[in-house]
Amino acid sequence: FDRHRLVIAVDGTSGSGKSSTSRGVAERLGLRYLDTGAMFRAMTWWLLREGIDVRDAAAVAAAVGRPAIESGTDPRDPTITVDGVDVSVEIRSDEVNGAVSPVSAVPEVRARLLDLQRAVIGDGGIVVEGRDIGSVVWPQAEVKVYLSADPDARAQRRAAEQGGTDVASTQQSLLERDRIDSGRATAPLTMADGAVHVDSTHLTLPEVIDQIVALASTPRDTG
Ligand code: DC
Repeated sequence: FDRHRLVIAVDGTSGSGKSSTSRGVAERLGLRYLDTGAMFRAMTWWLLREGIDVRDAAAVAAAVGRPAIESGTDPRDPTITVDGVDVSVEIRSDEVNGAVSPVSAVPEVRARLLDLQRAVIGDGGIVVEGRDIGSVVWPQAEVKVYLSADPDARAQRRAAEQGGTDVASTQQSLLERDRIDSGRATAPLTMADGAVHVDSTHLTLPEVIDQIVALASTPRDTG
């Protein structure tokens, strides 16, 4: 197989370590990196800024074509812009955390971002992280990983990332997003056909990266 065309899909719950893992794998293998969650977050940030009611699916659906969303694919410096403005920091706010799951459940949002995601993937050579990469966005991916971790571990990691915010409230917010992301009708979070389950609860980041790099040296048979 041609490593330069390889697509590695990394799906999993919030805080399972997808981003650090995916970036690490991309750096090790010299691949590009796409954070699809950042695209849903960017769309959500824009809707909030426009004053559009994110619980009003019809209003959200009517607006999805308006913002220009662009993702940089350098794993060392992933960027995300909306209408040319870098929103990498803004998309991690509590407001966006609280609104992104309902926005992501709107089919028109998913359809718009699906087109953008497939365009970025293009000829491959990329690690793509999200919820539905192996199941919907790129089912033909040579390597599919479903990354999980216990809720306690996830909340602790996420709270530490956010500079020591309250672990209990972080966990509540993670679990609420999991519930909506797994329960939605369109492209819910599931383990894709052919995915390898990696539980990162008791693994260090380099150990998880090693496991996925090893999988990439023996890609699954895509038939
Ligand atoms: O990975 P993350 O926490 O940045 O993702 C933010 C939200 O975006 C998540 O709650 C669900 C949604 N999402 C999605 O629906 N599909 C994806 N492929 C990626 C993210």
